[in-house]
Amino acid sequence: MCYNNNVKTQGQAPLWEALLNYRRQRLNSWHTPGHKDGAYTWPSWQQVLGEETLGLDLTEVPGLDSLAYPCGAIKAAQEKAAAFYGAARTFFLVNGASSGLMAVILATCRPGDEVILPRYAHRSVFNGLILSGARPVYMETEWLSSPAIPLGVPPAVLARTLKAHPRARLLLLVHPTYEGIVPHSRELITLAHDYGLAVLVDAAHGAHFGLDPLLPPSPLDLGGDYVVQSTHKTMGALTQAAMLHLRHAGEGDTIAAALNLLQTTSPSYLLLASLDVARLLAEERGRRDWGRAVAGALRLREKLVAAGIPCLGPADVMSPAAAGLDVTRLLLPAEPFGACGPEVAGFLRRAGQEIELAVPDYILLIINPGDGEAKIESLLEALLALRRGSGLLPAASGERGGAWPGPWPVYPRQVLTPREAWLAPRREIPLKEAEGRICAELIAPCPPGLALAVPGEALEGEVVARLLSLRGPDGKVLVVDG
Ligand SMILES: Cc1ncc(COP(=O)(O)O)c(C=O)c1O
Repeated sequence: MCYNNNVKTQGQAPLWEALLNYRRQRLNSWHTPGHKDGAYTWPSWQQVLGEETLGLDLTEVPGLDSLAYPCGAIKAAQEKAAAFYGAARTFFLVNGASSGLMAVILATCRPGDEVILPRYAHRSVFNGLILSGARPVYMETEWLSSPAIPLGVPPAVLARTLKAHPRARLLLLVHPTYEGIVPHSRELITLAHDYGLAVLVDAAHGAHFGLDPLLPPSPLDLGGDYVVQSTHKTMGALTQAAMLHLRHAGEGDTIAAALNLLQTTSPSYLLLASLDVARLLAEERGRRDWGRAVAGALRLREKLVAAGIPCLGPADVMSPAAAGLDVTRLLLPAEPFGACGPEVAGFLRRAGQEIELAVPDYILLIINPGDGEAKIESLLEALLALRRGSGLLPAASGERGGAWPGPWPVYPRQVLTPREAWLAPRREIPLKEAEGRICAELIAPCPPGLALAVPGEALEGEVVARLLSLRGPDGKVLVVDG
């Protein structure tokens, strides 16, 4: 089913142009959305967003194609994205990379199928396991010792895992981690392909990869079969807007069907068009812009290090588990500032700078082409002022919060699949009484977002002790009842 499309679809940004053309007709709206081009909404909302933006907040209307069954402007926009990223087929996502990760697992796995993954996979991957009934097989992860963050999985570990699980269906790689670390993805993908596994790459934080030689390579160029990118995280699309790329067109219809199970039937055209223009921007100016962003990040790194503010660099992570680092991610240990991460973040906020993440041991910042020289300079000044101990920092509270204790090589016993645990009767009990029970919730405190307990796993020994230290002696946990 497809709406009639008598709109031009072959422009530079076909969906954005179709949306503008539609809007120019100034048709009276007798359809959803109910704000009626902004006429029925709260006055300050109307005033700030403006009639033009609200008038473009459309969903599927005749002439604007359908996300579920695209054959006009959306199809043309997705095809342009596929051509740009080197994919056989690209899907626009309006529920983030999360929906793409879940859809691929749902489309490719049946109950009991094995999926090989690291335990630091994003929670949407575990949600995909619940939806599909697949069984997780974990690869041992290598860690950086300070700060304690996962580095990745060495190819030798994957080779061992594949030998033990030669009939697994899917390998899930994280390229890069939240902190910007990439594994040896080419080797990992080749190994998986040798065993006949398809590879799903979570590149939520890597939509810009490959746009500059100093950035890590794009996982599509490394042979990933399904690559999911949060275009909204680094490439200027609106929050929630993401893409899923397929290396082979063959499975496209199955993936489309899975996406139609998971995504809304009223996709926002502002989100969809933002993907179209993010691709156009990357195509027209991506190399130049990202070259500038990388150069700016490198200059900032140099100045920080010269001022005694260390910054996690590629040489710190290179190892059998990690192939490199996205230099536009800045991980700064908090210790040189004589404070913990949230205190550093608080100081920076008072100095007009809002960062991406603050945890007890470090802070994380993201640089992209939207950050001009003056803005980077103002960040540098704030960091230097704090390093000099300019007195702007209120007395450090000494409160370090629930710091992650370090590498966590614990792989609890799996009793049920995540789906079986999800479907079982469940109830919340005090953690103190959890020993020997089966976990019914995903517990993956951030950072490092590592799964401490997954639905279906036995709550035993060290895991219960760790949960108690995280949630406190009165903490509760959801378990399978009975
Ligand atoms: C590694 C990783 N994968 C996937 C996601 C999900 O991305 P989205 O927010 O676009 O759904 C995130 C979100 O932060 C993430 O950090």
